[in-house]
Amino acid sequence: MPMAEQKYLITTAIDYVNDVIHIGHAYEKVVADALARYYRALHGNDKTFFLTGTDEHGQKVAQSAERAGLTPQEFTDKIAEQDKAEIVSLHVSFDRFIRTTDADHVAQAQAFWQKVSDKGDIYEAEYTGLYCVGDEAFLTSSDIMDGKCPNHPTLELKTITEKNYFFRLSAYQEFLTDYFKEHEGFVQSQLRRNEMIGFLERGLEDVAISRRKASVSWGIEVPNDPDQVIYVWFDALINYLTAGLQAGFWDDDTKIIHFVGKDINRWHSLLWPAMLASAGYKLPDTIVAHGFLSLNGQKISKSIGNVIKPSELTDKYGVDVVRYYLLRYTKLDADADLSLAHLEETYNADLANGLGNLVSRVAKLCETNKAANVHDPWDFAQVSDHYPEYRQAVESYDFNQALAEVWALIAKANQELSEQAPWTLAKKPGKEKEIAQILHQQIAYVLDIAELLLPFMPETAQKIRTQFSQKHIKLEQSLFPRLNP
Ligand code: MSP
Repeated sequence: MPMAEQKYLITTAIDYVNDVIHIGHAYEKVVADALARYYRALHGNDKTFFLTGTDEHGQKVAQSAERAGLTPQEFTDKIAEQDKAEIVSLHVSFDRFIRTTDADHVAQAQAFWQKVSDKGDIYEAEYTGLYCVGDEAFLTSSDIMDGKCPNHPTLELKTITEKNYFFRLSAYQEFLTDYFKEHEGFVQSQLRRNEMIGFLERGLEDVAISRRKASVSWGIEVPNDPDQVIYVWFDALINYLTAGLQAGFWDDDTKIIHFVGKDINRWHSLLWPAMLASAGYKLPDTIVAHGFLSLNGQKISKSIGNVIKPSELTDKYGVDVVRYYLLRYTKLDADADLSLAHLEETYNADLANGLGNLVSRVAKLCETNKAANVHDPWDFAQVSDHYPEYRQAVESYDFNQALAEVWALIAKANQELSEQAPWTLAKKPGKEKEIAQILHQQIAYVLDIAELLLPFMPETAQKIRTQFSQKHIKLEQSLFPRLNP
């Protein structure tokens, strides 16, 4: 039997809608988008499904709606639209923008609950714990520092005593331990994997997966118990399955890759696989946990007042400039500090002087010497085959390294052109053939660069492709005019 072709489901975390997303949230979307665009370019559009969206239930969102004087539904409609517009401003090419208030998701969350319940993994118990609304989670004593949640020190922790439903996570301790052993690459990077193994070694406790409707009314009702709503994390994780199943991307032919922040790795790497095993579904193949972005050495936060929306940056600098900066100057498994001064510096150095300058130089020389593109049509799969280090870097989520490979090629082309100096050859007679050869090679470099940039800077890649596929290549408007400091 012929083997079914490999498919890819690529997801991001779904953002809480208590506020519009900032550049830190959007970073994750751009990273996942680069991988989705890469697999689409390599294997065809229908082999990749890219999912993102919003996490709309729970206490945090309900409180924000109340403060805004809106019903939760009105409020979530408004923020979800704004979030979507923000990621569209970064050309994030999702196939579905799921909202946990979507009817198919609500139905899937309840059906999933029923499966886990039928398996015997849900029970009812009285619980007392300290709840952090910021994390939407009960904290354990080891999570608490000086009586506060370390992630949300301004929020007061609430002691909550409730009769809730629990998921038997502890019953999956051995299963998860074995799964981690057998699947080396399950959690990326090694550092994040080790963190999860540490949690496993300390032992897993059962988790509350419902809240009393009387205290949290904004949620999906628990099947057969109208007094309880499904806990927001149990509900939210299921979004991947809702969309994946519906699109035909939750099966053994699909590689499922979840991109998440390091702060929510635990939910994805420990709770989610146990939930899926309980309900009888395929587990994800990889959880890629990324670091956090800060701005000028400070946490991005409303109270600090340094929140930047993605669209503010794309309006000011252009989409591909922001995408480039985010992807080139971060390393996925580490935190990264960004600044506008650094963005502008790298714009001038890498984009204006590097890529933009090469494209203009080559185009101008082609125009003067009437050089045309006589290469066979370029194709991403074919081109990237010649750059195995690039391919290896992208497929191991090392996007900054993949871009470094492209910039090495830009430097090589720029240097070769300076050394061969066709403009001095043009002053001598009989050098037409030599000049044509030099330009033929330079056009090939530029077209290779355009292909390799496709996942990262799609608009720029397309512009270069169009400019250099003309019969008569001409100098056009500069791609990245220099910014004056
Ligand atoms: N709603 C949950 C996720 C549910 S997924 C089933 C959530 N939402 S969030 O809005 O708080 O965060 C969404 C994503 O953005 C998370 O992966 C989080 O780690 C990431 N980031 C939030 N701030 C960030 C930075 N400053 N830098 C990088 N990523 C950031 O958690």
